[in-house]
Amino acid sequence: MSEVRNAVQKLYNTYPFPPDPLLDEPPPGYNWRWHYQSAYNFCKGKKPHKPQVRILDAGCGTGSSTEYLVLHNPTADILAVDISENALATAQKRLEKSGVLKDFQGNIEFRQFNLERARELEGSFDFINSVGVLHHLPNPVVGIQALADKLADDGLFHIFVYGELGRWEILLMQRAIALIQGDKIGDYRDGVAVGRELFAGLPESSRILQREKERWALENQRDECFADMYVHPNEFDYNIDSLFEFINTSGLEFVDFSNCDFWQIERLIKSEDLRERVKQLTIQERYRLIELLDPSNVTHYEFFLAKPPLNRETWQDDQLLLTAKPELNPCMLGWESKSLLDYNYQPITLNDQEFEVMKLASGNPQRNLTVKDILSQVNCTLDEVRSLLRRQLIMMG
Ligand SMILES: C[S@@+](CC[C@H](N)C(=O)[O-])C[C@H]1O[C@@H](n2cnc3c(N)ncnc32)[C@H](O)[C@@H]1O
Repeated sequence: MSEVRNAVQKLYNTYPFPPDPLLDEPPPGYNWRWHYQSAYNFCKGKKPHKPQVRILDAGCGTGSSTEYLVLHNPTADILAVDISENALATAQKRLEKSGVLKDFQGNIEFRQFNLERARELEGSFDFINSVGVLHHLPNPVVGIQALADKLADDGLFHIFVYGELGRWEILLMQRAIALIQGDKIGDYRDGVAVGRELFAGLPESSRILQREKERWALENQRDECFADMYVHPNEFDYNIDSLFEFINTSGLEFVDFSNCDFWQIERLIKSEDLRERVKQLTIQERYRLIELLDPSNVTHYEFFLAKPPLNRETWQDDQLLLTAKPELNPCMLGWESKSLLDYNYQPITLNDQEFEVMKLASGNPQRNLTVKDILSQVNCTLDEVRSLLRRQLIMMG
């Protein structure tokens, strides 16, 4: 087991990941998955009330995610762990150089630590982020269980793992490189050189080359990305069925995919008749159907888990909704305009009523306005307010 871990550590010490450049300024925009309030609202349907949160970035790599965690959660207590000392050194440099620590009032610690031993960490965490890590452990179940045990009662766990259907060509190339490398397997620089030479000679008709060109070539200009993709010593790829088996071992509840628009069957099935039949399927079967119909786009799964029972607020109760106090989702760009980018950077246009509701909500929490107060000033229905909630434009405080 530890041989695999050592090999993974060596890869990321040779090629720390991600190789995002170190900037003299904070990273651009936002990433709602790493904004605790926004992520909590997505998962639980309302704004969290805990003033002080603890966050664990499990397998932080060179700190691109940690930097957003610092930026978006200015009073949080953040622990970022990784087994690669070189990745951690870059992560620390990244945060120092960009200046995000200047306005940060919380606490941040980087630590070289094997996340499989997470139970040894003190206390619990309100938010655990583990992106691109669990599938590289000798046994991912050990990792997900160790982290799940550290989740606070109302906590959220954000995970990203690979999907086998969209990575089929990658797997073939990994095997081809390993065959040629023979007893040089584990020499990652050699692996990158072999891989690049192979790609340079493949005929245009090669499916592996075509996939590389259409999907990955831009990021793979960097050797760190190429190595992470094609010469990795340990990778588990999932499909929907094995993913849910994996999730079930954690004892946590699946909340939703964080790229949930992708997982809408309406995207792929136009016939009303077939859509009706699909409604008979379980949610897991529906997801399976989506990946069977759109396999090449399932390169990964990104999703939230939470401790059961989930208790997601749906705001179907009119009385409850009328007394709730809406605020704007902090993740959006272009406010105060009717045309803006939402939490997912999708362009949206608000109608006049929606705009007026949001303008009043933007005064909260200071003005303490309820939905009832707002609807006494704007000609808008409760369902229109629910639509703003569903689209993550407002959240209830
Ligand atoms: C693909 S990188 C992802 C980095 C970062 N999470 C991101 O998405 O940008 C995987 C990271 O997981 C780390 N890692 C692998 N096994 C680990 C373990 N057992 N404990 C802690 N970190 C680990 C690696 O060193 C590497 O930095």
